[in-house]
Amino acid sequence: MSGQPNGHSTPPKVDRSNLIPFSSRLKEGRALALDVWTIFNAANLPPHCINLGQGYMNFAPPKWVTDAAEEALNTVAPNHYSHPRGRIRLREAIKAFYGPQFNRELDVESEILVTSGANEGQYSVFTAFLEQDDEVIMFEPFFDQYLPSVTFNGGKPVYVPLHPPKDSLENPTSNDWTIDIDELRRAVTPRTKLIIVNTPHNPVGKVFTKSELEAIASIAEEFNLLVMADEVYDCLVFDGKEHVRIANLPGMWDRTVTVGSAGKAFAATGWRIGWLIAPKSIIQPTLAASTRIIFCSNSPLQEAAASGLEQAKERKFFENQLAEYAERRAIIVDAFDKLGMKYTLPHGSYFVLLDISNVDFPDNYPFPSSVLGRGRDFRACWFIAQEVGVSSIPVSEFYCEEHANIGEAYARFAFCKDVDTLRAAAERLQQLKKYLK
Ligand SMILES: Cc1ncc(COP(=O)(O)O)c(C=O)c1O
Repeated sequence: MSGQPNGHSTPPKVDRSNLIPFSSRLKEGRALALDVWTIFNAANLPPHCINLGQGYMNFAPPKWVTDAAEEALNTVAPNHYSHPRGRIRLREAIKAFYGPQFNRELDVESEILVTSGANEGQYSVFTAFLEQDDEVIMFEPFFDQYLPSVTFNGGKPVYVPLHPPKDSLENPTSNDWTIDIDELRRAVTPRTKLIIVNTPHNPVGKVFTKSELEAIASIAEEFNLLVMADEVYDCLVFDGKEHVRIANLPGMWDRTVTVGSAGKAFAATGWRIGWLIAPKSIIQPTLAASTRIIFCSNSPLQEAAASGLEQAKERKFFENQLAEYAERRAIIVDAFDKLGMKYTLPHGSYFVLLDISNVDFPDNYPFPSSVLGRGRDFRACWFIAQEVGVSSIPVSEFYCEEHANIGEAYARFAFCKDVDTLRAAAERLQQLKKYLK
C-alpha cells in the first residue's frame, strides 16, 4: 500500500553528508583529531594576541633571495616542470654547500633529491622503505607530522622518550634532556626498520652530542636500521655547540638520509622546498616514490633556494642569521628569568620550552571544549593566551597518549619573530607573575 496518490512510496530520508566512508588511515595518524595548530590558531585567539605558537617567521626571506625568485618567475624554463630530482642549479648548490660538511663529493644525479619541503621528503622515504607494520622509532617529544607520515605508509610508530631535566636542576639546558640508550635498545624489535633522529630538536632545542649519536649509530648498525637524520634546523646551533651529522659517523653514510629545509634556512616556510642527502641506495627508491607523489617541486622557488645557498657563504648569511636568532632567544629567555620561571635553554632551533607547572588558573575558567579533556598544558596555554595575550603550544601534543603527562609540564614558545614583537611579548609575559603558585 502506498500513502502517495501516485502510488509511489516516499523514499526514506538518507543522510547524504557522509555518503562515502573515508579511510581508517586518517584515524590512526591522528589526522582527524582536532590538532593543536587549529585549536591555537590566531582565528581562535583574541585578536591582540602575539603569536609565539606556530613556528613560522613574521619576517620576509632576505631580499637577494626573493629577487632571485622574481627573476625565476620572469624566466620561461623555471615556470615549468622540473626534473623530479630537482632543478640542476639547486642540486649543484646543495652539492657545493653541503659536500664539505659531509666530507664528500656529492653526486648530483644520485645522492641529492629536492623535495616539497622536508615533510614531503620524509613522507617519500617512508613510502619507499616501509612495509606494512614495519616499526619506526622516534624520540618524544616528536615533530607531530612524523606520526601520520609513518602510519599513512603502513608503519607503526614506536616512542622512546627524551628524559626531561631533573627538578633539582636550576637552569636546565636542552642538553639536560637525555636519552637512555638501553631504553632505545629495548624498543628495537625484529620489525624495526627506521629510526628518526631530529637534531637540533623541535621542540626541545636539543643538539645531540657526538657520543649520543655514536650510541644511536651503534644500535642502527647492530640491528641494520635506516636512520632519518632530520636536520632542518642545522643552521641554528647556538653557544658554539657542534652540530654533528650522524651520517658522518663511521659506517653511517650508507644507512642515513639527511633532511634539510629551505623554509628554515631562508625564512621561507611557505615555499615548500627541502632536500634529502643520502647514498644512491636510499635516494633512488625515494625518488621513485616522490616522482609518483608530487612528480616535482615548485620550480621558481628552487632557483631562489639555489641562489640562497650559492651566496650564503660570501654574504656570511648563516652567521648573521644565527646572531639575530641568538638576540631573539635572549629576549624571550630574559623575560622568563625576570619572572623567575624555569625553562629549558635551547642550544638549537627556534623553540624554548617554559615550565608551566606553577601557572595557576581557575578550574572554572571559560575554556572551550577543544582544550577541555586534553592535558593541563592545553588549559594553561589557553589561559596564558587569553589573560596575557601571548600564545604558545602545549607540549603534550608532541607525545603519544601514554606519555602525554611528561609534556603537560611545558609550553613551547617559538622565537622566530622580529625583535619588536618579541620585546612586546616579553613585556606582556611579566603579567604571568600574578598567576604563579
Ligand atoms: C623537526 C622538523 N622537521 C621537519 C619540518 C618540516 O619542514 P618543511 O617546512 O621544510 O616541510 C619541521 C617544520 O616545522 C620540523 O620542525
